[in-house]
Amino acid sequence: MMVAEKARHSAILGTGACLPARVLTNRDLEAMVDTSDEWIVTRTGIRERRIASPEQATSDLAYEAALQACANASVSPGDLDLIIVATIVPDMPFPSTACLVQARLGAKKAAAFDIEAACSGFVYALAIAHQFVANGVYDKILIIGAETLSRVTDFTDRTTCVLLGDAAGACVIGPASDGRGILSLHLGADGGGADLLKQPAGGSRLPATHETVDKRQHFVYMHGSQVFKFAVKTMDSAVRRVLDECGLTTDDVSLLIPHQANLRIMEAAAQRLGISMDRVYVNIDKYGNTSAASVPVALHEAWEGGRIKEGDVVVLVAFGGGLTWGSAVIRW
Ligand code: ACO
Repeated sequence: MMVAEKARHSAILGTGACLPARVLTNRDLEAMVDTSDEWIVTRTGIRERRIASPEQATSDLAYEAALQACANASVSPGDLDLIIVATIVPDMPFPSTACLVQARLGAKKAAAFDIEAACSGFVYALAIAHQFVANGVYDKILIIGAETLSRVTDFTDRTTCVLLGDAAGACVIGPASDGRGILSLHLGADGGGADLLKQPAGGSRLPATHETVDKRQHFVYMHGSQVFKFAVKTMDSAVRRVLDECGLTTDDVSLLIPHQANLRIMEAAAQRLGISMDRVYVNIDKYGNTSAASVPVALHEAWEGGRIKEGDVVVLVAFGGGLTWGSAVIRW
């Protein structure tokens, strides 16, 4: 979707991130399942990931990232109009994690809700926030991607437990001028692939029972190789589509910030796009796959680390369970 000519532009006014202190290395995992540092590094690019402490729930990570994003945007929480949290691991089925964050921030004026689009959740939240700003409904929106995936990770399953980590990333979105901000957005879904990536139990289809717990159905299940193929193809087409829509090409991209699921996926997609890896932001070695938190954490680090300058064309792209995907072009 192109930004309509008469609509207001929206931009990212500030970013924040929260990474739990505990580091789980590949060596630590070698002691837990039949794997090796060498296998994990060569197949995924991951060297370590962060794990929330037993006291830390998703809203705790989200709150810390939110405080930082508000401070960096010079926005007081009391001035926020809306809070959206993208997560697949809410503190509890309801109330929403966004409401818990709203109360803790003292963001009394803000409406609040969660969305679930798995690893694409942050880009979906960005698209929703953009609509509210573009239509002139709201001026200050906090969007957060936050996950404690360790709570739904089967640490006896080597095919998934080496991949996942905990984190939160946040952005404040508001109106922009001078042609800056979000230039185009694209969202997509293919529910036909729902079985490839899921947490089978705990909802209305398979409510929690002793049997679902015994069968380990409350953990993330993934068909890795099929998700891999889908990811490479989708990242390529989703990036081309948003660039086309605003009249840009892959040559114009200053920095591509992809969902951090696997270094090989990022390399394969970048190669198909003709974007060299020095224009692709990678931090998967430190954090693994943090689902909806991955893009905002990477964006925060890229900005803080001086990888983004004013006027740069930054492209975000994510894919995940659903199946879902999303992409955005931002003129910084
Ligand atoms: N250590 C050692 N061996 C392993 C491990 C491990 N941690 N995991 C799998 N293996 C073995 C397999 O059992 C298999 O052995 P076999 O040949 O004897 O059967 C072999 O390694 C190869 O397995 P593949 O699955 O073919 O390995 P692949 O190269 O495809 O890598 C991976 C697996 C890393 C999971 C990859 O497919 C991938 O990254 N897929 C995409 C994941 C993704 O993007 N997920 C998205 C979101 S996750 C979310 O939404 C929460």
